[in-house]
Amino acid sequence: MTAQTERSLVIVKPDGYRRGLTGEVLRRIEAKGYTLAALQVTEATREQLAEHYAEHEGKPFYEPLVEFMSSGPVVVAVIEGNDCIKGFRSLAGATNPTEAAPGSIRGDLGRDWGLKVQQNIVHGSDSTESAEREIGIWFPNL
Ligand code: RTP
Ligand code: MG
Repeated sequence: MTAQTERSLVIVKPDGYRRGLTGEVLRRIEAKGYTLAALQVTEATREQLAEHYAEHEGKPFYEPLVEFMSSGPVVVAVIEGNDCIKGFRSLAGATNPTEAAPGSIRGDLGRDWGLKVQQNIVHGSDSTESAEREIGIWFPNL
């Protein structure tokens, strides 16, 4: 790993897994040129989600978000590549899938389902600090 190589924590959320979009998400990550450093299918625990989404505690969508993220298996990955945190956020697109640009994961594959929380297929870390914190939650041995 070079000094500039960056890592990001990516999650294929339960909607993406259920819809069979895991392969498509991983394909886009690899086609972009990022590499997979770790990968697992898991069912998120309440404790992991409380840590992962600590910044959103108290917001109106927090409980629906935790419930949604517990609704089925997720695929958690650590990806690697220069500036991959920003790069994956760009691949993912805007949080609201209705507004996400065509060409992005959320823009191409997501939509509004009229639920209490946006189901938007993927999560990606938003800073180097978040990435290292989140990698510690999902891959404590990495
Ligand atoms: P993520 O953390 O999952 O990568 O998404 P993000 O940065 O684009 O969005 P964030 O603000 O961190 O919100 C986390 C997740 O909560 C759900 N959300 N729903 N008003 C809503 O319905 C709403 N707001 C947020 C989404 O699943 C979002 O990705
Ligand atoms: Mg976020």
